[in-house]
Amino acid sequence: MSNYHIKHLEEYFQVYRKSVRNPEAFWEEIAEEHFLWRKKWNKVLSWDFSKPEVKWFEGAQLNITENCIDRHLTTRGEKTAIIFEPNNPEEEAQHISYYQLHDRVCRMANVLKEKGVKKGDRVCVYLPMIPELAITILACARIGAIHSVVFAGFSSNALATRINDSDCKIIVTSDGSFRGNKSIDLKGIVDKALEECPGIENVLVVNRTNSPIEMKADRDVWLQPLLDAAYGDCVPEIMDAEDPLFILYTSGSTGRPKGMVHTTAGYMVYTAYTFKNVFQYRENDVYWCTADIGWITGHSYIVYGPLANGATTVMFEGVPSYPDFGRFWDVIEKHKVSQFYTAPTAIRALAKQNLEYVENRDLSSLKVLGSVGEPINEEAWHWYNNNVGKKKSPIVDTWWQTETGGIMITPIPYVTPTTPTYATLPFIGIQPALMNEEGNEIKGNQVEGRLCIKFPWPSIARTIWGDHDRYRDTYFTAYKNNYFTGDGALRDAVGYYRITGRVDDVIIVSGHNLGTAPIEDAINEHPAVAESAIVGFPHDVKGNALYGYVILKETGETRDRDNLRNEINQQITEHIGPIAKLDKIQFVSGLPKTRSGKIMRRILRKIASKDVSNLGDTSTLLNPEVVDEIIKDAL
Ligand code: WTA
Repeated sequence: MSNYHIKHLEEYFQVYRKSVRNPEAFWEEIAEEHFLWRKKWNKVLSWDFSKPEVKWFEGAQLNITENCIDRHLTTRGEKTAIIFEPNNPEEEAQHISYYQLHDRVCRMANVLKEKGVKKGDRVCVYLPMIPELAITILACARIGAIHSVVFAGFSSNALATRINDSDCKIIVTSDGSFRGNKSIDLKGIVDKALEECPGIENVLVVNRTNSPIEMKADRDVWLQPLLDAAYGDCVPEIMDAEDPLFILYTSGSTGRPKGMVHTTAGYMVYTAYTFKNVFQYRENDVYWCTADIGWITGHSYIVYGPLANGATTVMFEGVPSYPDFGRFWDVIEKHKVSQFYTAPTAIRALAKQNLEYVENRDLSSLKVLGSVGEPINEEAWHWYNNNVGKKKSPIVDTWWQTETGGIMITPIPYVTPTTPTYATLPFIGIQPALMNEEGNEIKGNQVEGRLCIKFPWPSIARTIWGDHDRYRDTYFTAYKNNYFTGDGALRDAVGYYRITGRVDDVIIVSGHNLGTAPIEDAINEHPAVAESAIVGFPHDVKGNALYGYVILKETGETRDRDNLRNEINQQITEHIGPIAKLDKIQFVSGLPKTRSGKIMRRILRKIASKDVSNLGDTSTLLNPEVVDEIIKDAL
């Protein structure tokens, strides 16, 4: 019997040792006993981080939707797979059983097929958090199409870039989306994006908001009538273990977004196994992750991980502040949520509100609380622990990335003793290493360095779509034979890990990864702007906020500064989306640069954080005088 469900600390250590000593035997056992295969593998693992190449379960054949849906039908057909909680609490929640999910996914799969979608084709999905989002990605997986979900808060420009990068031929979207008391014109954003996307042949539109939209003849069709007419069964496409399952874009420190490619078998095995253990999921639990399926957390821990375990997973369309700041707690009470997984930025925002919101709700169903996306500060951790968990529900601070596909460093609740702000121990099969600047591993405890992973795990992203060189350069060149995460971390006296934050030019704002380069590019397109640099600075709700230093062209100098600030943020909203807007914009006459012309962001970061006591040696700069000026005018 494999150790599919870990129940105490000794067992964790024992299983961990087994998984590291003989990873192949370990994962083979898990895969064999807990999943449905059409054909078994010839080889469990082959890998070479210098190429880089990683293959798990080579030769195996399967369809992930048979694992997430079909195999549950005999035992859990009537069980609720998805609870849909709409934005408006007055609108009735939907309980979609595994039977119904099967029917709806098959219909959608047949609609995609009718539209000419074939195995290997890319399907762009730009939808709000409504059931059709989960159903569409599962329908893609059913027929072997590769889904590329774009978060529905991205702008038309950002959407167009992603559609074109992966050559999608079809997009599934909705007329609009509800967010609190607002409704957003998604179809208008899509129409604008598609002016730049000649490859898109079909647009399938879900009717969600009933808002007036334009339907372009021969391109746009309403989805529902097609679903109604479609057949409710669809033979699953048999996929190879290493066939791509999806592409998901993430920001890099430079250049275009990176389309991370995840493949089928390893991703399924790892997300399912982590879900079971990290949330200690049991048969009648109701699990709720508040992330959006537009991010990796939603892919792995709203859809694939939970469904592969036959779980009940909640999809929430709304926002934590609507109709009031008690909404999360209402939903927990209403659906008797057992596991609640959210982001520190949400916790910090809710901790600022009157305690009555949380105290007046019955949260006794909760057993496990989770945190993801950015470091959780001590204050937020305690607020979460005291007021939501009532000191009874362990908090799992889960560290992982779009690239890792699944949770990597985390406590196991009721197993690993937790310490605030520590992600604690590597999950089963994960071999972390801390590296020094010279590229050598720092052994022992009470050390700090750059976080790498030494050995492949089943759900590691296999490449960047269309750019394998970039994949190698970004993750596998800084530290030979290691995957480099881009994060710094420390390991304390007992071997617990604490993530200290990004060590590159990615800034995490409200849990969203933002690269500096694309934002600067957007700012620089403003006609009055000559040059710009953005950095992160601490923010009590968002974790980090963005601070922009902007040099104006002569033509901009006479303009009203506040108008310019608004226009610059408008520019960013159009190019990327409102999540990338700057909190502060300081107009400067120059930026501190090295003699080779590189912007010294370290100095700009310190000024933005109001920490100018120790700027280091600035005399070697090309333009040291500009530093004093920037400090004097800092906001
Ligand atoms: C950060 C989200 C501290 C980290 C799943 C990582 C965290 C980046 C944590 C990936 C955590 C994520 N503690 N930092 N528990 N979880 N991060 O790709 O910097 O959206 O590299 O994946 O978020 O963000 P991504």
